[in-house]
Amino acid sequence: MSTPKRYLITSALPYANGLKHVGHLAGAYIPADIYARYLRAQKRDVVFVCGSDEHGTAIPIQATKEGTTPRAIIDKYHEAMKQDFEDLSMSFDIYHRTSEPLHHETAQEFFTYLNDRGELEVKETEQYYDKEAKTFLADRYIKGTCPNCGSDRAFGDQCETCGRTLSPDELINPVSTLSGKTPIKKKTSHWYLPLGKHEQFLREWILEQHKDDWRATVVGQCKSWIEGGLQSRAVTRDLEWGIKVPLKDAEGKVLYVWFDAPIGYISATKQWALNNNKAWEPYWYDKDTQLVHFVGKDNIVFHCIIFPVMLKLHGNILPANVPANEFLNLEGDKMSTSRNWKLDMRDYINDFVKKENGGGQAVDMLRYYLTQIAPETKDSEFMWKGFQDAVNSELVSIFGNFVNRTWVLMHKLCGGKVPKLHEDLLDENDRSLMEEIKNAKTKIEGLLEEYKFREALFEVIDLSRKGNQYMQKKEPWIVAKQLAENPGVQKSIDNTMHLCLQLTANLAIFINPFLPNTAKTMIQMMKVVDKMLDWENAGKIKLLSVGYSLREPQLLFRKIEDAEVSEQIEKLKSNLIMNEPVKSNTPEPAPQSTDQPVNKSTIQFDDFAKIDLKVGTIVAAEKVEKADKLLKLSVDLGFETRTIVSGIALHFKPEDIVGKQVTVVTNLSPRKMRGIESNGMILIAEDKSGKLHFINPENAIDTGSNVS
Ligand code: 2FM
Ligand code: ZN
Repeated sequence: MSTPKRYLITSALPYANGLKHVGHLAGAYIPADIYARYLRAQKRDVVFVCGSDEHGTAIPIQATKEGTTPRAIIDKYHEAMKQDFEDLSMSFDIYHRTSEPLHHETAQEFFTYLNDRGELEVKETEQYYDKEAKTFLADRYIKGTCPNCGSDRAFGDQCETCGRTLSPDELINPVSTLSGKTPIKKKTSHWYLPLGKHEQFLREWILEQHKDDWRATVVGQCKSWIEGGLQSRAVTRDLEWGIKVPLKDAEGKVLYVWFDAPIGYISATKQWALNNNKAWEPYWYDKDTQLVHFVGKDNIVFHCIIFPVMLKLHGNILPANVPANEFLNLEGDKMSTSRNWKLDMRDYINDFVKKENGGGQAVDMLRYYLTQIAPETKDSEFMWKGFQDAVNSELVSIFGNFVNRTWVLMHKLCGGKVPKLHEDLLDENDRSLMEEIKNAKTKIEGLLEEYKFREALFEVIDLSRKGNQYMQKKEPWIVAKQLAENPGVQKSIDNTMHLCLQLTANLAIFINPFLPNTAKTMIQMMKVVDKMLDWENAGKIKLLSVGYSLREPQLLFRKIEDAEVSEQIEKLKSNLIMNEPVKSNTPEPAPQSTDQPVNKSTIQFDDFAKIDLKVGTIVAAEKVEKADKLLKLSVDLGFETRTIVSGIALHFKPEDIVGKQVTVVTNLSPRKMRGIESNGMILIAEDKSGKLHFINPENAIDTGSNVS
């Protein structure tokens, strides 16, 4: 296959409604960054775009939660996400935003183009409407039971438990998230993209043309969408927040967020071109451009089916690949924002990156672990112990150890200079190491071109492992003991150290796309310019010139201590929000009868009798610092007053609940949350709208009364 003339790399535009976690980082950002850095090292023409997704119902919903405006929310989270990405060495050529006028114009032009050519249909249908809030209920303004997994927290656009894309009509027992009321149906008109018309194209393009070069998980998901029957998709909404539909008779209508967001890749490219005095058009129109979308698995349908149909109709190029990743779990459980079971990029930055001088080591340690466990073919697991093992046993003990040994010995045995290579004295071990260096280039390159980042990184570490084995076989420090008697052995030492140094230079090139900060430290130690990291230099044995003096070694990685691991696990557990149902990793089968709530399995009375329930009275309540969702309660139980930390701060004001009676589980083992020991749990009921209620006696009774 010939090399494309240029590349456009995109990472999914994150919603500007909150901080993003390391699952997002592993899914759509680190792999894209590795790929972009690799292509740049190859001197290819590459533009890597990303930005904030600032429309959709997620934004005004967050604004209501935080008691502010949608504008304030997008400004706050756009800046925060941009900063987090910078702190983790993401090398976007532009981090744009969809609230920019340039994006609004681009998305409106796109809509007009399709509409003017009759590619959209207008249909009047009945949609859910909230009489109280006087608004139609699109996407996250409506929730109910998921028809796929039975979770009762599915939204009108997607079930966050099983990841299934939904429409409000599919929800069982739908309720408005604005008023908590059951909605009525009301007529409204919208513009639709008739996907069914493009079935043949999608079948040929994905299921035939790309069946072998796209990931099996991606082709599999597309296949089930296509075979399930492609429905027309509404591309407009009745909402205030969003990009106005550019037509006279479309008052109150905006473009659907999933129509405008991917067009954000185009407007980001336009802005990049303006900033750099370049033309943007070839990146979206020229067939010799390779477009690659990096996304998580919940975004597959949008990037493989809907957006490509839009691109085809608009005359643009289609993605060459969509290397979507599966999900990353955390310490044995699904990451969840509502339960606060997650590791935000910001948390890692504060706990590791900011604590280190420069921060590059800590950034690279995370990039390393997230690539090593990347969910490329199936869901994978972030474990703090796994992070520690990856850093200590691979980065420190293999890669870092090889580079450090080489540097220390080179200073000790070769006077701090690159020694000569005596070709006539090369032995079998030397030749085989030289061969390994050359082969590594072919292997790593091939894997990167196929988006197999995990395996490519493995090959880099494996090469440094081979360096250690070589050094162990050659034992230059033992050979050096013969120097006094036999000065001729210096030549053998020179050969060993020469090859170890050339291997180090190669390792710097290979590791650069993955761990750019490490590569930077290595070129400082070698006293060479950035250009040495050009990919064309990889596999070469003559990168460092004979006689060239090199700097002192620097420690590339530090060890992760046991205490750091336990501290992080403790923090995670103490931040977990109680009173949120635990979501299982494996979606349960849909319940037989769809109008019944999902019940837990039967237990014996003895099990229930183990729970000590009492009526308590809240005597004090206050917010927990730096924990939006937690309240610290003092609850009088008759025989004593307990501290209980509860995840209800978004639902109750402290001053409103003092004096209220609650039912308390009094014999739960204590647990720490944000450093506060919680001794018990209060029972809460959640109604269909998501509103929380205490469980308390009809009329006030004695504090400490037993509940059974
Ligand atoms: O799932 C998400 O977080 C979306 N904001 C991704 C959008 S990707 C693209 F289309 F912009
Ligand atoms: Zn579901």
